[in-house]
Amino acid sequence: MSNTDENLKTAFEGESQANRRYLAFSNQAEEEGLPNIARLFRVAAEAETVHALNEIAAMGGVRSTLENLNEAVNGEEYESTQMYPKFIEDAKKEDRSEAVLAFTWIRKVENEHMNMYRQAIDQVSKGEDVEEKEYYICMNCGHPEEFAAPERCPVCGAPREMFKKVD
Ligand SMILES: [Fe+2]
Ligand SMILES: [Fe+2]
Repeated sequence: MSNTDENLKTAFEGESQANRRYLAFSNQAEEEGLPNIARLFRVAAEAETVHALNEIAAMGGVRSTLENLNEAVNGEEYESTQMYPKFIEDAKKEDRSEAVLAFTWIRKVENEHMNMYRQAIDQVSKGEDVEEKEYYICMNCGHPEEFAAPERCPVCGAPREMFKKVD
């Protein structure tokens, strides 16, 4: 790997993380009654997304949709079958109950992503798109639900109001 390839990878990871960190900081500013600071964090967060997208393009990290789906399914499979099970065990041993709960929910949702991507791979391999559906996401744990928001989230138990429709 050339220096620039290494640098693009490092920069992409940094910008991607900064995007999420600034969104978390923005939520905190909202909670503290500082809506304009919150907006400032969102302005920077949006820019970090633009930077990350430019970097992933420059490193050739986006290929055909079928290749992207294969990369995505491998990532979700690794996370749901190896990485998070190990993280959950570590967190249990270290009595980190908040981390145990977070990782447990995440592992389930990554498993759902894996299954979504597998179905998508079947369709795209036949030259077809997936069926058009409405999706709702639990804003507490990330669980995706098709067609309508459920009474309670099957992963984390959050009520219907926690679900947000995905555009
Ligand atoms: Fe995922
Ligand atoms: Fe949930």
